[in-house]
Amino acid sequence: MNSTELKLRERIKELTCLYEVSSIIGNTDINSLPNSLYAILRSLKKAFQHPEFTEIEIAYEGTSYTTGDINYEITISSPLRLFNKPKGTLTASLKAYKSSFLKEEKQLIDSVALKISSLLERIEIKKNENSLRRQVERTDRLNILGEITAGIAHELNTPLTNILGFSELLKENCSREEDIKDLDKIIQNAIYSREVVKKLMFFACEMPQTRETIDIVPTITSAIDLLRPTLRKKQMECILETHEKLFLKADALQITQVLFNLVMNAIYFTPEQGTIEIKAFQKNEQVIIKVKDEGTGLTAEAKEKLFEPFFTTKPIGEGSGLGLSVVHGIIASHQGSISAKNNIEKGATFEIQLPIN
Ligand SMILES: Nc1ncnc2c1ncn2[C@@H]1O[C@H](COP(=O)(O)OP(=O)(O)OP(=O)(O)O)[C@@H](O)[C@H]1O
Ligand SMILES: [Mg+2]
Repeated sequence: MNSTELKLRERIKELTCLYEVSSIIGNTDINSLPNSLYAILRSLKKAFQHPEFTEIEIAYEGTSYTTGDINYEITISSPLRLFNKPKGTLTASLKAYKSSFLKEEKQLIDSVALKISSLLERIEIKKNENSLRRQVERTDRLNILGEITAGIAHELNTPLTNILGFSELLKENCSREEDIKDLDKIIQNAIYSREVVKKLMFFACEMPQTRETIDIVPTITSAIDLLRPTLRKKQMECILETHEKLFLKADALQITQVLFNLVMNAIYFTPEQGTIEIKAFQKNEQVIIKVKDEGTGLTAEAKEKLFEPFFTTKPIGEGSGLGLSVVHGIIASHQGSISAKNNIEKGATFEIQLPIN
């Protein structure tokens, strides 16, 4: 083959590659992204003068997609820019010193990098849309659940109080040992049910509260103190990092309850000898409280249903799945917000934002 023919052959390979990459990108959605990236890499590799000595790499978001071992001594590369920020690179490398890259090959890498960048941008926008939609759906679901719950709780409250009252009355006038035992069971069950109803009313923001300006630091400390024995039993440490005083308008008892439930979960899901970190500070007009643990982290399902009443991953009998519903209700009735995310290494962090007024 003469040199013109050779050059022409290279140009055809490059054009074929560009065409292939465009069609791969056209058929890509969020779920098929890794497969598409590999398909692009394979197509690109073929387009080089010496495919057998060329390896291609896409490095993006801490992940490296490659066709083989990259020789970082002889490379050409082009940045992957998303929304004008460099977020990764597209690299071609030559295994041994066979020859150098052609000028056209650098141009090819540049154009493919541009195409990949716009694909990644598109996927990023889609991801954000999806997560926004899921967030709205989640909030809607919680609102609807709140309304249903409020109704049920109201309906049950009166009959439960009656059951409790009449059973106690009967017990007072009762002398038979067995009857008293049975009545005690009725009373215990009624009390338990009333507790569940109370938690549901917290979730539905239906509990009365007295909000006054308080220093929240002793409130946090008292919640931790309540859990000292449990912490000691699991040889765990709970570190509180905060200012000396942090004032905000809140119901102190309810905030204790919030902290208690969050730390309780943190203890439950963290292995023995682990550490729980609580940070509280003021930022602008808000008090931020963070509870960080070293536990299992949140499962995908837990992330979706975390604050829904009765959602629990604990074994039957160990949890009612009402702890975080109560927390959510209390925070909402304080016009605050709560979110949770997994830590990079291990465990989860819950973050509360409460307006100071
Ligand atoms: N710190 C955490 N780490 C990992 N998962 C958690 C954590 N906190 C909550 N979860 C998940 O959320 C679920 C619901 O928590 P929630 O406190 O509402 O109920 P529970 O702890 O299961 O039961 P209860 O609080 O009534 O004893 C838990 O079962 C668990 O799956
Ligand atoms: Mg709990």
